[in-house]
Amino acid sequence: MDENALFKLTHGLYVLGTTDGSRFVGSIVDAVMQVAHKPFVLALSCGNQSHTKSCLHTAKEFSLSVLGKDTDPFIVANFGFQSSRDVNKWDNVDFEEQDGLPYLQNTLAGIKCKIIQEIAFESNTLFLAEVLDCYVGTGDGEPLTYNDYRSYYKSGVIKVFNEQKDRMKGKKMTEEKKNDGKKWVCTVCGYVYDGDVPFEDLPEDWVCPLCGVDKSFFELQ
Ligand SMILES: Cc1cc2nc3c(=O)[nH]c(=O)nc-3n(C[C@H](O)[C@H](O)[C@H](O)COP(=O)(O)O)c2cc1C
Repeated sequence: MDENALFKLTHGLYVLGTTDGSRFVGSIVDAVMQVAHKPFVLALSCGNQSHTKSCLHTAKEFSLSVLGKDTDPFIVANFGFQSSRDVNKWDNVDFEEQDGLPYLQNTLAGIKCKIIQEIAFESNTLFLAEVLDCYVGTGDGEPLTYNDYRSYYKSGVIKVFNEQKDRMKGKKMTEEKKNDGKKWVCTVCGYVYDGDVPFEDLPEDWVCPLCGVDKSFFELQ
């Protein structure tokens, strides 16, 4: 089986917003599609390890802000490369609150959804959600796609993630994990990870900024 075939399925990129009961949380998602039009129903897939998934289980509602091709890569780094467990991501961006949910400013569209069904898989949870409201936004241009992200956009996101750490921080939610003074070290090039986000919480597609290998090549030393 050649899993690269699955990358030929492409989707848009969205900022999902929801709440943990006391503050707004959220993340970048691409696994969203419309699956019915009477009523309007969307399917959304969330990784089981994500904080967003845990919050959706309780909140039952979420917003989607549809990103355009001219989106600042900071938005994707902020919402996709760190967890709301550690950072108040919405503190770092301009957004409007409508009906108890956050929407990014200047996006192509905003969609409010109510979860009607949840199906758990080993890796992900599939949510079926009815569209309660939606609007076309003030942003211009074409939607940013997951294919855009993989083909040219991702390098800019990684650059922002590595170079604009202060802008990413928001209000830190927890003390940095210390790992008993040990550091995560790249076994290929020797790069020592010293980011603000605990290494364990970096996304699975994070790569060594020096040599480009993935997280599995790092060891705690
Ligand atoms: C381009 C891109 C697409 C992503 N698509 C999804 C997705 O469809 N579903 C999902 O659960 N996470 C997706 N993620 C990963 C989450 O955005 C990421 O793990 C985030 O840090 C989770 O934050 P949280 O712990 O605050 O929920 C994507 C990330 C990127 C960069």
